[in-house]
Amino acid sequence: MSDASNTGDDNTFQAEPAEPPRVVVLISGNGSNLQALIDAQSYDELGGEIVAVVSNKADAYGLKRARDAGIEAVALPHQEYESREAYDGALIKVIERHEPDLIALAGFMRILTPIFVQRFFGRLLNIHPSLLPAYQGLNTHARALADGAREHGASVHFVTEELDGGPVALQAVVNIAADDTEATLKEKVQAREHLIYPIAVRWFLEGRLQLVGDDVTFDDTPLPPTGLRLSHADAAEELDENDAT
Ligand code: GAR
Repeated sequence: MSDASNTGDDNTFQAEPAEPPRVVVLISGNGSNLQALIDAQSYDELGGEIVAVVSNKADAYGLKRARDAGIEAVALPHQEYESREAYDGALIKVIERHEPDLIALAGFMRILTPIFVQRFFGRLLNIHPSLLPAYQGLNTHARALADGAREHGASVHFVTEELDGGPVALQAVVNIAADDTEATLKEKVQAREHLIYPIAVRWFLEGRLQLVGDDVTFDDTPLPPTGLRLSHADAAEELDENDAT
């Protein structure tokens, strides 16, 4: 694609508007993180355009969120495929049709095959409800509470073949209060997810956040294993929570 085109005989050149970077979002359920990305896009803060949302569950509420926002919503039920490889092959085809610069996993509850990960390596981000590498996998809030952990949170990370094991780009911390339950903790963590995921997507689309070898770099500087970290106090203030201490 050229940046400029010759508009006539007088040799004047006019800049063509650059196409915004393209994002495909993968979901399985409610899609509240998808909604945060849609909202950021509507405020011109995403740095790109969500061109399609794909769900492995046909009844995912997130598909309605996509349609309501005028975004192509694709149901690709995994039950219709006889193996993980067959499903991921079909998913690759759907995604590639949309020529994305980034594939953002937003509550996409599937283990990905190596072929899928390799196909989009360096262009796959995921949001996970814990301060990775702590609490990979499921039931993260209950496990943090059961351990008596003092801190919990959310992480945006690049996806590698290791489940929830890819290098972290951005985290937001929440202090666990004495009276927190699984439900209250989930609510606080999700508020942080909605805060940091659109930021991470924008930084990626702007080329500021990159996967270089095994490291995440921000403005060409390698990040520590925890990525960039938003403290409890900063996140709570940003979210207008009462206990911003
Ligand atoms: C989010 O809390 C996300 O972190 C989690 O699923 C939820 C989806 O909510 N993802 C994982 O646990 C992935 N390992 P949403 O559909 O409302 O965005």
